[in-house]
Amino acid sequence: MTRDLTQREILTDLEPIAEESVHRHLSMTKDWHPHDYVPWDEGRNFAALGGVDWEPGQSELSEVAKAAMITNLLTEDNLPSYHREIAENFSRDGAWGTWVGRWTAEEMRHSTVIRDYLVVTRGVDPVALEQARMVHMTNGFSSGATADDVDSGAGFLHSVAYVSFQELATRVTHRNTGRVCNDPIADKMLQRIAADENLHMIFYRTMCGAALDLVPDQAIEAVATIVHNFRMPGAGMPNFRRNGVLMAKHGVYDLRQHLEEVLQPVLRQWNIFDRNDFSARGEQVRERLAAYLTDLEQVKIPRFEEQRDRALARERTRR
Ligand SMILES: [Fe+2]
Ligand SMILES: [Fe+2]
Repeated sequence: MTRDLTQREILTDLEPIAEESVHRHLSMTKDWHPHDYVPWDEGRNFAALGGVDWEPGQSELSEVAKAAMITNLLTEDNLPSYHREIAENFSRDGAWGTWVGRWTAEEMRHSTVIRDYLVVTRGVDPVALEQARMVHMTNGFSSGATADDVDSGAGFLHSVAYVSFQELATRVTHRNTGRVCNDPIADKMLQRIAADENLHMIFYRTMCGAALDLVPDQAIEAVATIVHNFRMPGAGMPNFRRNGVLMAKHGVYDLRQHLEEVLQPVLRQWNIFDRNDFSARGEQVRERLAAYLTDLEQVKIPRFEEQRDRALARERTRR
């Protein structure tokens, strides 16, 4: 039996593919400017400059749209934590470093444009938003990878598997948030962001797919760990339970979308259930992964949907 590759060996072996993927990304990505997506003429001063402070009635956004916008924005705000995870695990050498810098710069646009939109249109309370950002960023995000993980390659493999799913999950939430906003300007802005997230997902999915070809057993272990422990975008932020429940209840991001629009398409792209390059070690992991997905599909999703339908029906009769 061959030994596991170290993180450095994996990064070195995959670097040519990273380089090719960075070039492809740069050829496909379109430059865009956050200021073009914000209705500035709706803006006015707040009380500190002689205007009027925020009040709930100033915005037409529904409670669901507000919850989704705040959750998406706080997720984007946490970029420094995500940057740290990716920079530590991908290294800053060659194509990896180019990607980390470019991806971080692109991501920064997302929080910029959403915050500008929300403040100008008075979509959410800017004071509450700022307090939530302080808490969320101070907590930060950590994948929990240890120094040993980084040496063994698990650090990179976990990171690349995580972002393959996470980028797609953010794409789905941004797109669906655009729909519930009921404002063509917000919808256009969120579609623009979702298009970025899709290209990011393609880069990470390509790299994780290459890792599966290079070190199948090591990579499937990381993929399975991430799938088993995946948390909805925004887990841990202030009011996440309330906002997450609202989003799930109204189809911005729920368990079925998580399975059918995030997990399954990526796993299918990697050909996880039809490949024959796993040893007994990888086979075992694949079986556990299959059992997890079956449980999601046959037990957890129907249970969630029953509860949701009952809750929605109760709300309708109360109205
Ligand atoms: Fe983003
Ligand atoms: Fe992204």
